[in-house]
Amino acid sequence: MEKRQQWGSRYGFIMAAVGSAVGLGNIWRFPAVAYENGGGAFFLPYLFAILTAGIPILIMEFTIGHKYRGSAPLSLFRINKKAEWLGWWQLLISFVICTYYSVIIAWAVKYTIYSFGTQWGTDPGSFLFGDVLKLAEKPGQIGGLVPGIVVPLLFVWAVTFFVLYRGVSKGIEKLNKIFLPTLVVMFFIIVVRALTLDGAAQGLNAFFKPNWNMIFDGKVWIAAYGQIFFSLSIGFAIMLTYSSYLPKKSDINNNAFITAFANSGFELLAGIGVFAALGFMANQQGVAVDEVVSSGIGLAFVVFPSIINEFPGMNGFFGVLFFLSLVFAGMTSLISIVETFVAGIQEKFNVSRTKAVLTSGITATIISLLFATNGGLYFLDVVDYFINNFGVVTAGLVEVVLIAWFFKGLNGLQSHANAISDLRVGGWWKFCLSVVTPIILGYMMFDNIRQNLK
Ligand code: PHE
Repeated sequence: MEKRQQWGSRYGFIMAAVGSAVGLGNIWRFPAVAYENGGGAFFLPYLFAILTAGIPILIMEFTIGHKYRGSAPLSLFRINKKAEWLGWWQLLISFVICTYYSVIIAWAVKYTIYSFGTQWGTDPGSFLFGDVLKLAEKPGQIGGLVPGIVVPLLFVWAVTFFVLYRGVSKGIEKLNKIFLPTLVVMFFIIVVRALTLDGAAQGLNAFFKPNWNMIFDGKVWIAAYGQIFFSLSIGFAIMLTYSSYLPKKSDINNNAFITAFANSGFELLAGIGVFAALGFMANQQGVAVDEVVSSGIGLAFVVFPSIINEFPGMNGFFGVLFFLSLVFAGMTSLISIVETFVAGIQEKFNVSRTKAVLTSGITATIISLLFATNGGLYFLDVVDYFINNFGVVTAGLVEVVLIAWFFKGLNGLQSHANAISDLRVGGWWKFCLSVVTPIILGYMMFDNIRQNLK
């Protein structure tokens, strides 16, 4: 058995945890989710979700990893022999996420290259779906591999393998210490530029204008919880795995607050940047901001290229900044996802890190090729929908219910976390985990099923 690795410093751990949290979800998911769910008024349920679920679960996962010093299956096994399967279930969801998350990063790599000379031309939509994916010729089919995306995808995987092979402090920590600050600087430049464009104010107005009536709509609260789970990478044992590499003396509770607020800070920055840019685009086309709002693949690879086309200068430069931001934000999250199951496999089968990286990584790479086909982006949308609507909720719900109610683990975790933290958690923490979060997640699941049965 190799010696358990450790982070080199607290700063390094925080960079890695924030790196995992800040990802594609912050840039392309949050702005549209907030806008569609009440704009400025969305911040109320959003903050409520952070305080009642986000931070409490983050503290719980950090504490489990730190106390039991293992990947998800092992740590949960140590809480209760019957809990191991939950760890494997979380790892399975992480595995599914990484197979398509890697493909989105590969597209961002490809678009970084397309940015030189803004190769998507004047009609980015037909460029992507017609010229590149060749969907027009094969409607409704998966088709063959898109040749241009295979190399970027293999590149994304090669970097991931290399970083994980290097290990926790020499690989993951080092990469995050470089990527995360660079990401913030790059993104900040884009936001400042976007704010100085004509129409930016309209965009921000649309984004922040509160629609207070929506607060009474259950959907909005569900959206807030869903966003927080995905965005903070909780429920999939990722934060648990990262904290298992912390030194014995670590202020868990404080780290959780820092991670959560850094993630939301970036989310807010992304919302401002994206909406300033959308405002600019609406202004150029003489339409309302409403008509140009989008998220996901459409926002990143169709709407943003169009916006960049309209920039009054240095188009290619801003294109590179934007897509490289996606690459950096995505890579630091992808690495955390893959590390989670690499660690699980390494411990379960008692194999070396290298072997675990190669076996599980190559399997993930092969499956990810499925999403790199002509119809792969559509397929990806479907899987992403199910992960966000079922995977995230069920993983979180099962995790809190089992730990709080079945294995009665909260008291032990509370005293462990408090013994090493300045900031102490008390009854509110247990109440949120055992009552508030299960009720809300349970409702979310019920509602999802009802919607899909309709
Ligand atoms: N939190 C990341 C994001 O916002 C994505 C992610 C999800 C990472 C699940 C790990 C696990 O994009």
